[in-house]
Amino acid sequence: MNICVIGSGYVGLVTGACFAEFGVQVVCVDKDEKKIEGLEKGIMPIYEPGLDELVARNVKEGRLSFTTDTPEAVRNALVVFIAVPTPSRPDGGTDLSFVEAVAREVGQHMDGYKVIVTKSTVPVGTSVKVRKWIEESFGDNPSSPRFSTASNPEFLREGAAIGDFMRPDRVVLGTEDVEAEAILKDLYRPLYLNETPVVMTNVATAELTKYAANAFLATKISFINEVADLCEDVGADVQAIARGIGLDNRIGKKFLHAGPGFGGSCFPKDTRSLAHFAAEAGGSFEIVEAVIRVNDKRPERMIEKIVDVLDGDAQNKTVSVLGLSFKPETDDMRDAPSIDILQGMIERGAQVRAYDPQAMDEARKVLPGVMMCESSYEACEGGDVLVLMTEWNQFRMLDLGRVKELLSRPTIVDLRNVYKPDPMRKAGFTYISVGR
Ligand SMILES: NC(=O)c1ccc[n+]([C@@H]2O[C@H](COP(=O)([O-])OP(=O)(O)OC[C@H]3O[C@@H](n4cnc5c(N)ncnc54)[C@H](O)[C@@H]3O)[C@@H](O)[C@H]2O)c1
Repeated sequence: MNICVIGSGYVGLVTGACFAEFGVQVVCVDKDEKKIEGLEKGIMPIYEPGLDELVARNVKEGRLSFTTDTPEAVRNALVVFIAVPTPSRPDGGTDLSFVEAVAREVGQHMDGYKVIVTKSTVPVGTSVKVRKWIEESFGDNPSSPRFSTASNPEFLREGAAIGDFMRPDRVVLGTEDVEAEAILKDLYRPLYLNETPVVMTNVATAELTKYAANAFLATKISFINEVADLCEDVGADVQAIARGIGLDNRIGKKFLHAGPGFGGSCFPKDTRSLAHFAAEAGGSFEIVEAVIRVNDKRPERMIEKIVDVLDGDAQNKTVSVLGLSFKPETDDMRDAPSIDILQGMIERGAQVRAYDPQAMDEARKVLPGVMMCESSYEACEGGDVLVLMTEWNQFRMLDLGRVKELLSRPTIVDLRNVYKPDPMRKAGFTYISVGR
């Protein structure tokens, strides 16, 4: 089967490479010429573990190629995936302009039956709009062919994206069209053979399933963050509580890590979008609104922790920071909690020096006032406080003796609860963490 994936970012590139690995003939399209030129030379536009080998192998074996030529890619494909950004608008709604542009371009160049699959995260009703945009653009297309639409939301996690795509907990396929259903089932056949559960449903349900999943996970994070705040007020330990509740299978251990709040390219925008389209539908989504409010307050609370250990005054103090990306194993800085927290510290007069194993190029664009260092230890030099912002594995076993020597004050604010309070205090650090 020939498919094309329009948008070759975190989702599109992983989707394309993984389908190629399953034996499908894939063309990944992007309008960013530099990205496509790089990909043709084997240069990945993002950091995602294992992606470079997967891409190289499938390019070499002739199943995966890259282009900026959308019309050609569409003409040759039976299935067209849309995997372009769906950012937040200022009012919290979703900016569908990238999806619309792709749908219209697809409509202009379709020359036979195709299944148009929305993989971008989109509000309920978008697939109906995709159909309308395609049909409207038939004005420029003499063949006006028959086509089907479907929704196939993506649940992969950055940093573990390939494993998540190849061995997902489930696949959600939404379509009301039997022909599209048969084609998509065939495309996903390698996963059927793995006994991956496939939820076949209608388009609106598939679209909403993605938001419900992200909102639920975000709710767990805001919930445990509020438990952490309460722990700080009453002298309890949030990590023990997370274990105490997480061992209950009905609750589950994941997404119960107290910290600086959720960030990244999905949870912040998807929770806002869900609250927004729930309101547009005439209702409200009060839990999600509360989740967003709780999360919005996290940076200020984290800033207070840091300023407190600086005796209430950050002016001319040096803040050393380890980790900038919104989570480990990615270079993604979109809505990373580090942005608001470090900007807040700079506004309060601090100098910030930071190190991240992968995200410094991206971080330079959004945190121009931060001095980027070559290593964890260089970042520690002269720091009045060390802030552990993102729990990359390499920060779990720091040479604490060296850290202590390099800092001008042996003070650590551990926003990810990587270390244990007692040994850190015994090692001579002033040690502050979250909810303990
Ligand atoms: N990143 C994630 O972890 C993740 C997970 C699940 C779902 N999603 C959803 O998937 C969608 C894509 O997210 P992403 O993180 O991959 O975005 P991204 O920004 O990494 O990639 C999107 C790509 O689309 C390209 N593009 C934009 N308009 C185009 C056009 N008209 N023609 C061709 N290419 C075009 C951009 O140049 C970019 O390379 C979003 O809706 C997002 O919410 C993301």
